[in-house]
Amino acid sequence: VGVGPGDPELVTVKAARLLARVPVVFYPEGGLARSIAAPYLNPGRQELHALPWRSAADWEVNGRRIAERIAEAGEAAFLVEGDPTLYSNFVPAARAAVRADPEIVVEYVPGIPALVAAAALLRRPLVRGDQRLALVTPGEGLGEALAAFDTVVVLKPSRGFDGVRRALRRAGREREAALVVRCGLPGQRVVTDLAGLPPGGPDYFSLLLVTRPDGAAGGTDA
Ligand SMILES: C[S@@+](CC[C@H](N)C(=O)[O-])C[C@H]1O[C@@H](n2cnc3c(N)ncnc32)[C@H](O)[C@@H]1O
Repeated sequence: VGVGPGDPELVTVKAARLLARVPVVFYPEGGLARSIAAPYLNPGRQELHALPWRSAADWEVNGRRIAERIAEAGEAAFLVEGDPTLYSNFVPAARAAVRADPEIVVEYVPGIPALVAAAALLRRPLVRGDQRLALVTPGEGLGEALAAFDTVVVLKPSRGFDGVRRALRRAGREREAALVVRCGLPGQRVVTDLAGLPPGGPDYFSLLLVTRPDGAAGGTDA
């Protein structure tokens, strides 16, 4: 169940309804999903389980644990920050649960992704007219994306922030970039002077949005 990027008001009605009735709820340990969903949970009536993980391999074990609880309780929800289809631990967990019990039916409940909430905070459309959008993480593909796409969103920029800054400089797009830190969470801020950020990179819950300036859109919007 996607619970959105941080503000509990951005949890969908469908997610809230589901979380109010499901008997078992799992969430990744150390993440924010449980606190985002807190207003919709009912610890008195529900089992709430943190799933520990240090590496991708842990999801195999977690998947088996989820399958066991579903066998007993009938159904379970897995909380995901933002949306479950975007870089989410839900995917390996659900696949491992189905490997453990092929009868399990998996349902994805969409959530508002952090990148959409960040664009709204900045009042910057993600794409206009015929513009194209790339979603990347730090690494080799970033330079290519900055050269070929009007809008580039970098998730997990903290995992290689110096490289991100270099790629922006090389592409001449530093002034089009905005870093949104902890969107919808305590400590939310927007940084447009990336050179001024201390070395070591921003908070893990940060994303970078690179958009063409106003007036650079191609075509008209429907
Ligand atoms: C593993 S990905 C999960 C993405 C999430 N499933 C989504 O739909 O937004 C984690 C990355 O998403 C971004 N992110 C998630 N929540 C955020 C928030 N509240 N503010 C800024 N960035 C956030 C950050 O780039 C973070 O490193």
